Amino acid sequence: MTQPRVALTGIKPTGIPHIGNYLGAIRPALALAQSYEARFFIADYHALNSIHDPQRLSDLTYEVAATWIACGLDPARMLLYRQSDVPETFELASFLMAFTAKGHMNRAHAYKDAIAKNEAAGRDADAGINMGLYTYPVLMAADILLFDTDVVPVGRDQKQHVEICADIAQTINHAYGAELLVVPAPVTAAATDIVPGLDGRKMSKSYDNTIPLFATEPQLKKLIGRVVTDSRTVEEPKDPDTCNVFNLYRLFAAPERQEELATRYRAGGMGYGQAKAALFEEMNAGIAPLRERYQALIDDRAALDRHLTEGAERARGIAVATMHRLRQAAGIGALAKSG
Ligand code: ADP
Ligand code: TRP
Repeated sequence: MTQPRVALTGIKPTGIPHIGNYLGAIRPALALAQSYEARFFIADYHALNSIHDPQRLSDLTYEVAATWIACGLDPARMLLYRQSDVPETFELASFLMAFTAKGHMNRAHAYKDAIAKNEAAGRDADAGINMGLYTYPVLMAADILLFDTDVVPVGRDQKQHVEICADIAQTINHAYGAELLVVPAPVTAAATDIVPGLDGRKMSKSYDNTIPLFATEPQLKKLIGRVVTDSRTVEEPKDPDTCNVFNLYRLFAAPERQEELATRYRAGGMGYGQAKAALFEEMNAGIAPLRERYQALIDDRAALDRHLTEGAERARGIAVATMHRLRQAAGIGALAKSG
């Protein structure tokens, strides 16, 4: 019997999950769980690069765990664990360092963006950049390679990191002349790979333009009110394709409803206020059930702890086997031929 193929992805607990995270990463990842063996985790060591408040890191970790489950992750059928509960991750990261071109790190987006920001602000290029950020793709590669991952569902911004990971895996397989590591491929959901934020730029915690996934109804209404539109009058015909309100609407409404609203845009006689009301209805209908499940989950931390502890145990079973295979191949620990 052939092994089922593995889909794996992680989310950093660095902020409250937003609609972009849900549509761009969580929902496509859970959809893959229909046809793949699914492994999902909370990347708390990745968050440590930027969050040094212990209470906040711990709270956000629970929030991400509750988010996964509220959005449909079934802990009995799929693996859910915390990165920090799998120490082999950090051993593998050290192993990978020896096979990772420094140039890859120089070219990685997260690091390059941080440098560019410093330069734009007239600061030293490396100001405030720690080695965790610089070597970020190596830790991410360890997350992926440890679990024999075939596909990694991610938003477009993470694609490059997965490609670096594939390159490292190939370098190692080549060095030892064996298929020691599964070479992963990124998968992005084309329709949702860049969910726009309130201002039309990519929705992102760093731009302060997000709609939190579990916003209450009044919060949601208020945020939708802030979506930036042009200044066309009610009478004027409008272009749905360039409108931020419509671009969010299309992510939630059924195709017929999209067509209906697009027709009203083009006909004129409809103000943006009405378009926003329609967006609120669809978005709220889409996320209300998740919001209710989330609230029940986040209020029961003991249950979340149980899920995470069980997940960690199962995850370590897989991780230990991968590390054993690599150590044997590399002549580390018990000698390859004697053990
Ligand atoms: P943020 O940009 O808000 O800091 P993260 O970098 O933590 O978000 O992203 C977590 C996951 O969600 C990644 O897989 C990322 O690609 C995806 N993601 C984040 N924002 C968006 C967006 N606006 N559209 C699509 N996917 C997104
Ligand atoms: N870097 C990812 C992000 O910012 C989070 C992440 C860490 C991840 N390790 C991973 C994603 C492994 C996929 C696979 O969103």
